[in-house]
Amino acid sequence: MRWSQTLIPTLKETPSEAEIASHKLLLRAGLIRKLTGGLYTFLPLGLRALRKVEQIVREEMDRAGALEVLMPALQPPEIWQQSGRYETAKDVLFKVRDRAKKEWVLGPTHEEVITTLVAGEINSYRQMPKNFYQIQTKFRDEIRPRFGLMRAKEFIMKDAYSFDATDEAAQASYKKMYDAYVRIFARCGLKTLAVEADTGVMGGKFSHEFMVPAATGENELAFCPACGYAANVEKAGSAIQAASNLAQNREAVIEKFATPGVLTIDALSKPPYGVPAQRQIKTLVYMVESQPILILLSGDDQLNEAKLAGALGTATFRPGETEEIFSSLGAHPGSLGAVNVTQFRVIADERLQNAQGMTTGANEDGFHLRNVKIGRDIQVTSWADLRLVREGEACLKCGEPLKVQRGIEVGHVFKLGTKYSEALNALFLDESGTQHPAIMGCYGIGVTRTLQAVIEQRNDENGILWPVSVAPYSVCITPLNIAPEGEVMKTAEQLYKELSESGVDVLLDDRNERPGVKFKDSELVGFPIRIGVGEKSLAKGHVELKRRGGELLLLAKEEAVTKTKEWIREG
Ligand SMILES: Nc1ncnc2c1ncn2[C@@H]1O[C@H](COP(=O)(O)OP(=O)(O)O)[C@@H](O)[C@H]1O
Ligand SMILES: [Mg+2]
Ligand SMILES: [Zn+2]
Repeated sequence: MRWSQTLIPTLKETPSEAEIASHKLLLRAGLIRKLTGGLYTFLPLGLRALRKVEQIVREEMDRAGALEVLMPALQPPEIWQQSGRYETAKDVLFKVRDRAKKEWVLGPTHEEVITTLVAGEINSYRQMPKNFYQIQTKFRDEIRPRFGLMRAKEFIMKDAYSFDATDEAAQASYKKMYDAYVRIFARCGLKTLAVEADTGVMGGKFSHEFMVPAATGENELAFCPACGYAANVEKAGSAIQAASNLAQNREAVIEKFATPGVLTIDALSKPPYGVPAQRQIKTLVYMVESQPILILLSGDDQLNEAKLAGALGTATFRPGETEEIFSSLGAHPGSLGAVNVTQFRVIADERLQNAQGMTTGANEDGFHLRNVKIGRDIQVTSWADLRLVREGEACLKCGEPLKVQRGIEVGHVFKLGTKYSEALNALFLDESGTQHPAIMGCYGIGVTRTLQAVIEQRNDENGILWPVSVAPYSVCITPLNIAPEGEVMKTAEQLYKELSESGVDVLLDDRNERPGVKFKDSELVGFPIRIGVGEKSLAKGHVELKRRGGELLLLAKEEAVTKTKEWIREG
């Protein structure tokens, strides 16, 4: 391809709509353009890179034995009602109406469709294992689309669904997908970490997310450099010690004391009060099915809502509003507590077990209670692990300190069990002729997000650092003088022809621009290899070969072709 004939609208300035490096570079390198918030057009170069990611995904899915299909993006709401997700996923579902005013759903994912297909086509254990995948556009009514392709309203996903007759077979299908994901992300030039993920209110089954470590990621993960344990913080545990139970006088009675204007754990930990955060009980009020519940944590801990969902068995809850809290407990946030509260459920974090000598709100604005003893003064309805782990806490597996880092979720493998096969009747007969629901797994890769994650992980101050595997073009040839009859352009054309004919993706920068502009643009777009052709070096029989981010090499033309091919093989 010749630069002058394609469209590569590079930008000198960073567009104000972009906050993170990869989003800025997608725009500046002329790979995508925004239509409106959360919706993007892929320009020729962006699309080439996207197709390469797709092809890697396709090759590895095929290699793992998955079968490619293509399902409709437009789906009947009835199957969503049947699975129960018409309600539980309603926040992300885009709905449209046809001319007869009938409602349809734009698919955010395809468990319902694939399970309906399998219900009709597979009825014997002999037809399994089966794994179907597709690479397709998904629609999600995201609350906060942002960061370009990272969280969009419309994006391309590879979704795969496995169906097995036995648990062991389902486990093997899961392992195959996990291994395929490891290969896919490595081939895309990405360093990823597979972390244990929260399985939501379904519980029991397991799941891994593939994370690209990045400060701009929307997820937080905890990992242990010593033993390799890694988990999304929504799921991560740690070997944390019990909250303070070292009170001097174990049987000291409760005392109320005035704390005017003290509304936070922090304020109470400062003079004149000086109660350390870990000696305070933090009381939160959440509404579950319009009933208030009290959640107790050590004052130095933060609530993990994913763990709360697991403990409650539902993800439908929200923090109480000030008004609701006041009418339930008679005080405002900052003075809340659970002492002698018996009319509401009280769920406490396990760290508080046996805690005594604690301080907590008195349910009277401007007052707190000290010498509070769990069990004696506070009746806990149920105990659960509810806290967010923190960096430095001891690993559950080996006791070494954990690290906490942000990451971008590019892929997700999930053992589903029989939730969908039961709801949508994907039943099969086993060897003895008994009917069972198929055991399912689902496996997603955000293809468009993966593309952006490559850029987020691989860039420098000059632009993108593509790996050969997903670069829009592997080589950019930059003649410094484009006069058609000149030696420079002739040499450039020869190199272009030779490399193209041997199957290399090569772009010829035939624009009538200053060398500085051309070099800057090729660094910005980030082609892995650049071949510069100029009068001076050509006079000595040389062309200039440069790997993106590497040193300049002067080589004879033929050597340059050989070296280029060698570098491409290396990736
Ligand atoms: N709004 C989005 N924009 C771009 N990619 C997304 C979006 N939502 C999900 N993805 C990608 O699709 C993959 C599979 O989706 P899934 O695990 O169902 O999403 P989530 O974790 O957001 O519920 C995710 O790992 C992510 O890479
Ligand atoms: Mg996910
Ligand atoms: Zn460890």
